[in-house]
Amino acid sequence: MEENKKVIFSGIQPSGDLTLGNYLGALKNWVKLQEQYECYFCVVDLHAITVKQEPKDLRKRTLELLAIYIATGIDPEKNTLFIQSHVPAHSECAWLLTCSSYMGELGRMTQYKDKSKKAGDNIGAGLFTYPVLMAADILLYQTDLVPVGKDQTQHLELARDLADRFNKVYSPTFKVPDGYIPEAGAKIMSLQDPARKMSKSDDNPNSYILMMDDPDTIRRKVNRAVTDSLGVVKYCDEQPGVKNLMTILGCITGMTKEEIEAKYEGKGYSEFKSDVAEAIVKELEPIQNRVNDLLVNKKELEEIYTRGAEKAEYVSRKTLRKMQKKIGFIPR
Ligand code: TYM
Repeated sequence: MEENKKVIFSGIQPSGDLTLGNYLGALKNWVKLQEQYECYFCVVDLHAITVKQEPKDLRKRTLELLAIYIATGIDPEKNTLFIQSHVPAHSECAWLLTCSSYMGELGRMTQYKDKSKKAGDNIGAGLFTYPVLMAADILLYQTDLVPVGKDQTQHLELARDLADRFNKVYSPTFKVPDGYIPEAGAKIMSLQDPARKMSKSDDNPNSYILMMDDPDTIRRKVNRAVTDSLGVVKYCDEQPGVKNLMTILGCITGMTKEEIEAKYEGKGYSEFKSDVAEAIVKELEPIQNRVNDLLVNKKELEEIYTRGAEKAEYVSRKTLRKMQKKIGFIPR
């Protein structure tokens, strides 16, 4: 194990196909961090079942997500890649933390409020306790930094509160983690309603680009993206659609807003949109090809997640044991 390197933990749910938002807000940054940090990247399947999943789809998506991690450039030799349900300490720790969580603080989570509205009369209890499981994920690894998009900041704050509370009630046990939100791309917006975040659970498929969308679909969706009637490529709040497309282009190509504005001065939206689409295609196509290759050889993926789970198991158990001892459980 690498000593002295700061620890990073992050995860994505295999609950639907990944969007460009997941890629730019999370995955693309993970790739940059892997040299400098000791990283745990988890496929959080326990989180996915907070909403109903078809078993065969969940299996397929879990493997596909692992393949996407690798295809994006996360090196399985240097990082710990694993599947959450393979490491039981996550569920155990979540229960221990649930017992020191308050109904009030969980009820305040905006993601819970949004999702429970959609759930109708029977709101799953898992939707409510979900952020505690996320806190367990993070705290078990004595994590320093959690690279996520903006929509996860409230959950992260809860993880910090729970760590702090446990440390105070018992004695220092957890590192209190910090968020690591990228400067650009932390909130990619819907292509159809730029006031809302791009989300895989959106009813309108034109509102998001999937990481596995084929080039023509990507071109069509970008072409249909909502802009405005001003016809000027300018980064400002009055033009949220254009601003979002500029953010996407900037994140992928590394161009600054000023460079993008200068390039499209006096040109209208058609050329701009077509360049945004081509940049996305160029970025995603090689990843898609690698994903498909990786999925052909399931043995290799199996080896990676087995190895990952062993390492994650070892590290997480250590923290869990400390918790159990401090709480007053009798060791076996
Ligand atoms: P999830 O699966 O919804 O999203 C995965 C990551 O993608 C980011 N993201 C976005 N970033 C920018 N723009 C968007 N439109 C966009 N949509 C999603 C999310 O912020 C996230 O970083 N609870 C987490 C998963 C999780 C986790 C963890 C994360 C479980 N345990 C521990 C970090 C640490 C979630 O549902 O992310």
